[in-house]
Amino acid sequence: MKLGILSRSPNCYSTRRLREAAVARGHKVRVLNTLKFSIDLQQGEPDLYYRGKRLSDYDAVLPRIGASITYFGTAVIRQFEQMDVFTANGSIGVSNSRDKLRCMQILARHHIGIPATTFVKDRADVLPAIKRVGGAPVIVKLLEGTQGVGVILAETEKTAESIIETLQSTLQNVLLQKFVAESKGRDVRALVVGDQVVAAMRRVAQGSEFRSNVHRGGRTEVVELDDQYRETAVRAAQIMGLRVAGVDMLEGADGPQLMEVNSSPGLEGIETATQLDVAGAIVDYIAAQVDFPELDVRQRLTVSRGYGVTELHIPEGSEYIGRTILESGLRERDVNVLTLNRGTTVIPNPKPSRDLQAGDRLLCFGRLESMRDLIPARARRARRPKVKVLPDDAASDAKTS
Ligand SMILES: Nc1ncnc2c1ncn2[C@@H]1O[C@H](COP(=O)(O)OP(=O)(O)O)[C@@H](O)[C@H]1O
Ligand SMILES: [Mg+2]
Repeated sequence: MKLGILSRSPNCYSTRRLREAAVARGHKVRVLNTLKFSIDLQQGEPDLYYRGKRLSDYDAVLPRIGASITYFGTAVIRQFEQMDVFTANGSIGVSNSRDKLRCMQILARHHIGIPATTFVKDRADVLPAIKRVGGAPVIVKLLEGTQGVGVILAETEKTAESIIETLQSTLQNVLLQKFVAESKGRDVRALVVGDQVVAAMRRVAQGSEFRSNVHRGGRTEVVELDDQYRETAVRAAQIMGLRVAGVDMLEGADGPQLMEVNSSPGLEGIETATQLDVAGAIVDYIAAQVDFPELDVRQRLTVSRGYGVTELHIPEGSEYIGRTILESGLRERDVNVLTLNRGTTVIPNPKPSRDLQAGDRLLCFGRLESMRDLIPARARRARRPKVKVLPDDAASDAKTS
């Protein structure tokens, strides 16, 4: 395959290793500086120029987008997606994981352990928010910090309040998060590639430091993750839409507490700690998946008028309980079940003979009119509000202003 690595630092450890791994496997590979692309748009033909020349054909790209160039970097990835080139991480995945709030918002509705987190703007809401996440000591975090820089442990509510005030006065957005004290300056980094954890390490902070980042002096050790940690890491990466990710978890009293998902995980720390060929695993994965470029399912499936994707819930007492998907009659009503979500399990492409249970959630594609009847009344809203004519006086007011 011909692989492009999107990176601004061709000589850093991770980029070097990825390039070597690709060469060693007989692939063609080139490191492309993300900022040297031009994105060309014309009806029907999205195109890319690199250093002023039309970019040659690539089978796959592996984006390594730094936090400082997220906007341009994700635009470049999006362009590759529009050109049907396989991208190891999609533009949506990279944007979702970049901002800690967005990441937590997306993960919170799934069955994944996360430290209680809150986001406030108004001064008056700060104290109650601290109380809701368990009181001081409490963690204050910048939304886009990396390497531990924007993470502060506030010992008292007063300190937390003044830190937040200071940061907000410089127009920085901050999160408040429960301090997971039992994790004692340790966290776990799992490197997810596809649907597997290919390597994992524990990072342990130095002395009284609570942040275990290697850049803050944390040391690393090999760790054998149990199934719960592995599954959490893989699911988090999948929910975020990332096929290559570094998933950071605290070791909470009740199991993994997910902190962040990195879309350009560094390889030096983890390869040194584990002595595993992580770069090789990433390249092999890309080579195996290259025929399945990321596509925005909504973008593709909602173009037919009257058709769309929605999730149907099977509530307690529903007439569908105990029936199979075949007996449910969904297919006759022009509705296909794409996946069945049951608790934490996801059953892709469920068989027609599969029984339905209370609490099931069915991701369906089909005729919206048919699916509307299946949405419980409470959640139903008018999908196509009628456009009304303004009353006479309002219309004349609008004319004069
Ligand atoms: N809620 C928390 N409770 C305890 N320790 C935390 C918490 N959040 C972060 N930490 C510590 O601080 C480190 C950095 O936090 P993280 O959210 O990963 O930010 P960064 O992006 O800067 O690495 C973590 O690796 C962990 O050791
Ligand atoms: Mg981190």
